[in-house]
Amino acid sequence: MNVLVLGSGGREHALCAALARSARLKNLFCLPGNPGTAELGTNLPGDPNDITAVLAAARQHAIDLTVVGPEDPLAAGIVDAFQREGLRIFGPTRAAARLEADKSYAKQVMRQHAIPTAESRTFDNFEHAREYISTRDSGVVVKAAGLAKGKGVFVCPDPSDAIIAAERMLFDGIFGDAGRTVVVEEILRGREVSVLAIVSGRTIYVLDPAQDYKRLGEGDTGPNTGGMGSYSPSEALDERTMAQVEREILVPTVNGLLADGIRYTGVLYAGLMLTPAGPKVLEFNCRFGDPETQALLPRLQTDLLDVIEAAVDGTLDRVALRWDPRHAVCVVLASNGYPGDYETGKLISGLPKTTGRDDLFVFHAGTDRRRSSLVTGGGRVLSVTALAATRAEARAQAYASVAEIDFAGMVYRKDLAG
Ligand code: AMP
Ligand code: GLY
Repeated sequence: MNVLVLGSGGREHALCAALARSARLKNLFCLPGNPGTAELGTNLPGDPNDITAVLAAARQHAIDLTVVGPEDPLAAGIVDAFQREGLRIFGPTRAAARLEADKSYAKQVMRQHAIPTAESRTFDNFEHAREYISTRDSGVVVKAAGLAKGKGVFVCPDPSDAIIAAERMLFDGIFGDAGRTVVVEEILRGREVSVLAIVSGRTIYVLDPAQDYKRLGEGDTGPNTGGMGSYSPSEALDERTMAQVEREILVPTVNGLLADGIRYTGVLYAGLMLTPAGPKVLEFNCRFGDPETQALLPRLQTDLLDVIEAAVDGTLDRVALRWDPRHAVCVVLASNGYPGDYETGKLISGLPKTTGRDDLFVFHAGTDRRRSSLVTGGGRVLSVTALAATRAEARAQAYASVAEIDFAGMVYRKDLAG
């Protein structure tokens, strides 16, 4: 089978690595991919958001199945376009991807189907938002309703900061159209966890729990990032809580959408706060998490191609997910300055040999080939995943490999998976 993966990050390299293990894979393509995916298949130039060009590439290379990494092409309707052409693609349709792309819609779905989440109000007028926030005596969270690359959320313990955040979005337009509508909601307290599930119609396969680290700094300080590391399995979610998340959150979401005529196929990622009153939804994503995927997929023993194909074909109930019992710890190496401005083009040295190993993976994200050398080309540069019998050993091995790698301005968190 010829498979095309869309995207260019660590998540996409991990997807390619898992697909490359399938005996049924013939040719693997990644658009645009990165130097890591180039070692597993063929990188195709282009922009995953250019749906017409991606369709043309899929036809040209006789692609049997396309797997979408990032959210933007999903929100733009790439799945609908492929389906119209009779081409197989893994991911939610535009209507289903609204769960991530439009937080005010997600809130409406949750309210309608009694899914536990923070109390919220939606505004597109700054004066109304200001009036509402000033009546609150506790802090609130202000979120741009649209896709803002993870930067559109302000947790404001002081309501006057929330008014400023709402003003910057609704009045100054700092996020453009993504911030023309804002969601204002109560601050939830508790431990934050991610639950990912592969969904096909009514069939929901919850993946093993994974933990990610969103803050840049040690001790969960500093700005929010795309993710600085992850581990799996996570002890934060015991079987009882996982069952509760499935029963109270995933099943009613998927069935609620179905009742509204929207069939969900793809990964449904629920960002949750484990509050004293039970798990509540912070956000939905409509795709694999990055860097959760880099800790999860190396542990997946079932052929990922079989799983994805079954989800697309509506036969997901016939496959079973088997997990490697080992623990995986993933450390993200970033460029100094990320998630703000950073320099690129720094020489990367000391990458450990991983060929043939099933206990160490170095996934590329923001890397570039410059003649025979590898240089940095993005904010999150590499993610290093190690597997071992215990989390402590996996952590020690991941950090031992990280210590071999070097580039100017390399930053990473030293407190992951402790
Ligand atoms: P989101 O993109 O909606 O998940 O928000 C990004 C981050 O902001 C989350 O990962 C949380 O750390 C934080 N956050 C979002 N909503 C809330 C909330 N209602 N209460 C507390 N923290 C929140
Ligand atoms: N790890 C968070 C995300 O993928 O959105």
